[in-house]
Amino acid sequence: MFKKTKIAGIGFYVPQNVVKNDDLKEVIDTTDEWIQERTGIKERRYVQRFKENTTTMAVEASKIAIERAGISANDIDFIIFATLSPDYFFPGCGVLLQRELGIKNNCGALDIRNQCSAFVYGLSVADQFIKTGMYKNILLVGSETHSAGLDFSTRGRNVSVIFGDGAGAVVLQPTEKQNQGILSTHLHSEGLHAEKLAFLHLGGHSGVFTGDQTDFQSSGKWGSLFVTQEMIDNGTAFPIMDGPFVFKNAVVRFPQVIMEALDANNKKLSDINMLIPHQANLRIAQFIQEKLGLSENQVYNNIQKYGNTTAASVPIALCEAWELGKIKDGDLVCLAAFGSGFTWGSALIEW
Ligand code: UT7
Repeated sequence: MFKKTKIAGIGFYVPQNVVKNDDLKEVIDTTDEWIQERTGIKERRYVQRFKENTTTMAVEASKIAIERAGISANDIDFIIFATLSPDYFFPGCGVLLQRELGIKNNCGALDIRNQCSAFVYGLSVADQFIKTGMYKNILLVGSETHSAGLDFSTRGRNVSVIFGDGAGAVVLQPTEKQNQGILSTHLHSEGLHAEKLAFLHLGGHSGVFTGDQTDFQSSGKWGSLFVTQEMIDNGTAFPIMDGPFVFKNAVVRFPQVIMEALDANNKKLSDINMLIPHQANLRIAQFIQEKLGLSENQVYNNIQKYGNTTAASVPIALCEAWELGKIKDGDLVCLAAFGSGFTWGSALIEW
């Protein structure tokens, strides 16, 4: 019998620390009205500094997903960790998650760097491993600590007000049931626009180095591995985005890749029970909904509460929609994402 991949368990975690738009006003030259009007965001969560990080949030989300899958951590036979904000430059968070979950079976751990579309990319990788019979319980996590690496000056306000921290996780298993499992994934990239939404220097989360290392860095001979004071001062130590350009590309690529998923499976827009778009901007999600003629009930958004959590946004929204009873067994669920790279992708799943 032909095997497909099902989501056997799902969980998410967001820090308790709620940061409202008005709280940001205390440090950034911005307003609640601007943020809500342009992005739909009302609040986001930030980690408690030095107590929580990308791995600890992933652990919490994973524990829920593992429990809901009805397995124990040691049953996990492969880990895929999606993040652009790892706790160390290396090793990746996958092995840290393995350690913190107490997984002792030496399973493989893969870290992926596909920013906003990373969860969809990770799902596609996991799907191949499950379909071929290589693995039976894959833990896929998207987790991000943006609050540690944003430019909270006026210069960076277009980026800083958007992002939030959080994690989402799924356990993927084989299924032979009809009307269940991943029907297809479609992945794309266009490196031509790599610098339109980017963090151009390595080691952004590794700390700040000054003095001799600054001199070493500025020689340019070996490239920069650490963030220097100079880079912080001139703004190159932070993510940058040409917002309008990214927006214009997003509203084209999202509908394209959703239609690609439907066409590949002979499905229609009206067959979609739930579309979970990457939570980049509520205006982008609303534009897609309108362009595709989808109803309010066919799309789930929660960017209002959590901001853009990049690799975590799709699993957080998927989990929350499922917990609210908006996704039921047999439903056709479409995941779609677009972001830095540019990379974008979709997954069509029978729940
Ligand atoms: O998740 C990955 C994919 N990311 C996306 O898809 C994001 C796509 N882009 C966007 O969502 C929007 O472009 C943003 C929300 C980032 C920005 O909205 P925008 O309407 O494109 O604004 P803008 O960058 O064109 O800036 C318009 C004005 C500027 O002022 P002037 O030059 O017109 O005087 C900015 O300086 O708004 C100003 N501005 C702000 N004002 C108050 C930019 N950020 C802020 C802010 N508060 N936070």
